[in-house]
Amino acid sequence: MATTASGKTGGATPRPGLFVRKPTDQLTAESSGSGLSRSVGALDLTALGVGVVIGAGIYVIIGEAIPLSGPAIVISFILAGITCIFSALSYAELASTIPVSGSAYTYGYATLGELVAWIIGWDLILEYGLGAATVAVGWGGYLQDLLSSVFGIHLPDAISGPPGSGGTFNLPAVVLVAGVTALLVYGVRESTKTNTILVFIKVAVLLFFVVVGLFSFHGSHFTPFMPHGFGGAWDAAAIIFFAYIGFDAVSTSGEEARNPKRDLPIGIIASLLICTAIYIAVSVVAIGLAPSDKLAGSDSPLATALRLGGGVGPWAADILSIGALVAITSVTLSLLYGQSRVMFAMCRDELLPKGLAKLSARKTPWRITLIFGVAVAVLSALVPLSEIAKLVNIGTLFAFVIVNVGVIVLRRTQPDLERGFRVPFVPWFPLIGSALCIYLMTKLPGATWLRFILWLVLGLLIYAFYGYSHSRMQRGETDRPVAEGA
Ligand code: ALA
Repeated sequence: MATTASGKTGGATPRPGLFVRKPTDQLTAESSGSGLSRSVGALDLTALGVGVVIGAGIYVIIGEAIPLSGPAIVISFILAGITCIFSALSYAELASTIPVSGSAYTYGYATLGELVAWIIGWDLILEYGLGAATVAVGWGGYLQDLLSSVFGIHLPDAISGPPGSGGTFNLPAVVLVAGVTALLVYGVRESTKTNTILVFIKVAVLLFFVVVGLFSFHGSHFTPFMPHGFGGAWDAAAIIFFAYIGFDAVSTSGEEARNPKRDLPIGIIASLLICTAIYIAVSVVAIGLAPSDKLAGSDSPLATALRLGGGVGPWAADILSIGALVAITSVTLSLLYGQSRVMFAMCRDELLPKGLAKLSARKTPWRITLIFGVAVAVLSALVPLSEIAKLVNIGTLFAFVIVNVGVIVLRRTQPDLERGFRVPFVPWFPLIGSALCIYLMTKLPGATWLRFILWLVLGLLIYAFYGYSHSRMQRGETDRPVAEGA
């Protein structure tokens, strides 16, 4: 059914409904007047992707996944990587077609309608916001390790962990989030440059791990390879999926890319491929250094692997810890960056208060950045986050499913739209991508599903009581025809 919501006729015009879609030309027109500066190139975007992707997943969460898979963690990384690559292709197509801020939220608005867009946007808050809080807590742990190993300094327990983990307040995590927020409020140009340097360092440190580790490599650690069968490798893939989260953040900077139709697909796909290759190499070497049962549950599995492998002094583990600190810093930077851009798009559509999207003189959405910086800092200070990585995973997998479906829908509804990049074998590739994401979701525990559903219900209530009545599209604040429904 097609409806027209034209002109600013206010309450006299019937609302276009929950599934009103935003025309892609309107999205592009809005973005050209957004005021965000187009200063980011393909290399910056790739660095942004790698910056979000390589972090707590490979440094910390690998230790939680290994008990499920054994040495087959290598296979788990490959399975999770394959799951992501299909979704990355879909992100690349949508980002090259609709290169505006907001990522999956915006794509949802253009393809599946406002209600779905809201759900994705709300879901992305979970991915980026809780994800940033999770990795910030991991940063605090590594700082603690390094301070005690190099300087013999031990922070008092009360200020080095959240309640429930033996502390009262996680000060290091708050310091990190506050510093990164200040950087983002200051300006995008400085932030992406800083990020590129951080990314370079962390990749170098992981390559250092691989090269040093090869000198103490024991092939015998790989038998038995799959102590928990292929199912165990999938279980671990659902956890280690966290390590891949973030390549989609590249698409949140659509309005700041110099040449979005070319650079966004390059940034998304290149960052995912680089990270997959690094993860495979690092996980092979980690198991080669130490038997998988020795790595299971370690807070610093890669440093533990180096220590157990022998052949190098403790300095190597310290270098690795420095790498973890750098890695996690850049993840926090990129997640908070992505968060602010998604929220920016939601405020501009007035599903959330539009005053929040105000730009600073330096063209950064400072209000959103600041509000989320504070919220994430509070979370990371007070909440023990061991289970939250799974919640972040389920939310992200769900967003990927919608993005894959969005590609299929947009191909059907707007086949002639100019696409800088096209997913091959549509609808099969997006369908395979969705199926893999749903399969990984089923591997996550019931408690994670419950929390996720509660989060979605909360979001729907906010939409019902605020978003729906304030939405620009619902109020007919557009001078273009709007299609309703699929
Ligand atoms: N993929 C990111 C990490 O591993 C979120 O920290």
